[in-house]
Amino acid sequence: MTEGYGLVHKATIVIDNGIITYAGPEADAPSGPATNCHGTLVTPGLIDCHTHLVYGGNRASEFEQRLNGADYAAIAKAGGGIMSTVRATRAASEDELLKSALKRLDSLLAEGVTTVEIKSGYGLDVETEVKMLRVARKLGQQRTATIKTTFLGAHTFPAEYKENHQEYVNIVCNQSLPMAFKEGLVDAVDAFCEGIAFSVEETEAVFKVAKKLNLPVKLHAEQLSNLGGAKLAAKYGALSVDHIEYLDEEGVDAIQKSGTVAVLLPGAFYYLREKQAPPVAALRSRKVAIAIATDLNPGSSPVHSLLSTMNMACVLFGLTPEEALLGVTKNAAKALGLADRGEIKVGLRADLAFWDVERPGDLAYPLGFNPISAIMQNGQFSKAFA
Ligand code: NIG
Ligand code: FE
Repeated sequence: MTEGYGLVHKATIVIDNGIITYAGPEADAPSGPATNCHGTLVTPGLIDCHTHLVYGGNRASEFEQRLNGADYAAIAKAGGGIMSTVRATRAASEDELLKSALKRLDSLLAEGVTTVEIKSGYGLDVETEVKMLRVARKLGQQRTATIKTTFLGAHTFPAEYKENHQEYVNIVCNQSLPMAFKEGLVDAVDAFCEGIAFSVEETEAVFKVAKKLNLPVKLHAEQLSNLGGAKLAAKYGALSVDHIEYLDEEGVDAIQKSGTVAVLLPGAFYYLREKQAPPVAALRSRKVAIAIATDLNPGSSPVHSLLSTMNMACVLFGLTPEEALLGVTKNAAKALGLADRGEIKVGLRADLAFWDVERPGDLAYPLGFNPISAIMQNGQFSKAFA
């Protein structure tokens, strides 16, 4: 029986060599070995399509400052914010970054996450941007989860180039990005298009290089204001535009036409106590694919749980639990340009999460509760049934 969520009762999944070869009613399954699901709910492995989980230092003091009245943009302008993490990340060794990032990654993986995107952007010099991406690649070697890397050299302007934006844009375009690309460290290119970061023109300069290198682009767009970054991203066929609290009708129209995924980041909205929610109704009515991610980062979203993020997307943005689940599976895969996962379907990778819950809606319902039973990555159990 199929109902909402594409749920199939009394189902069987057959896997061969890491690939799903049958998924459907037990009664129609081919004979031969099938995966024992122990009567649990099975979903695709979850996908966190936007994180900044490699970084040095800690920004708890800014959390305190904000609660004492300072705002995010003012802290950034005064040399704190992203720049404070940049200083700590530059000072950290590759091993230190790896060790701290592993803990954060493991906290995501414990909830059935099988694919994670990780951005650079706390180096803002050639050496540290490359160092961050190397750490991200190493994380992928130390865990069975898939790690996708995104170059975010255009995260903000480092203090050294505060008065000379063009020179920093040149460094990103001519040095950091090509260098990281040459080392095979870049799966996609992102930028932070915002008043406190890169303008639309500066962002376009970076996108042009990405295009030359044949790399897909994504964009932190319309988070704190509406600069029209999403329209630019659509012009470059971006995989996703992320945050988008201030996205207007024109922007929704543009990303709908380009097939760009709208990635909502309720953790940042929650931590920054934002007032304007993203235009969910417009996205829905235009049938734009909506994904959800933790945005795990030390400043605006120290959120280490994708399940909690699903809950926040429902409570804060009004997503349905079904939309939330789609947002961390099928649509999150699309936001990363991954056509081989995100659904339980013949031909796709057997990345699966097994849950001790009654209904799929139970996943987005609690806060701070993890009902995982087992996790399968590419056909192998990375967490077995107890
Ligand atoms: O996705 N918006 C820009 N970048 C991060 C925040 C980074 C930080 O504050 O350290 C974000 O929210
Ligand atoms: Fe981000």
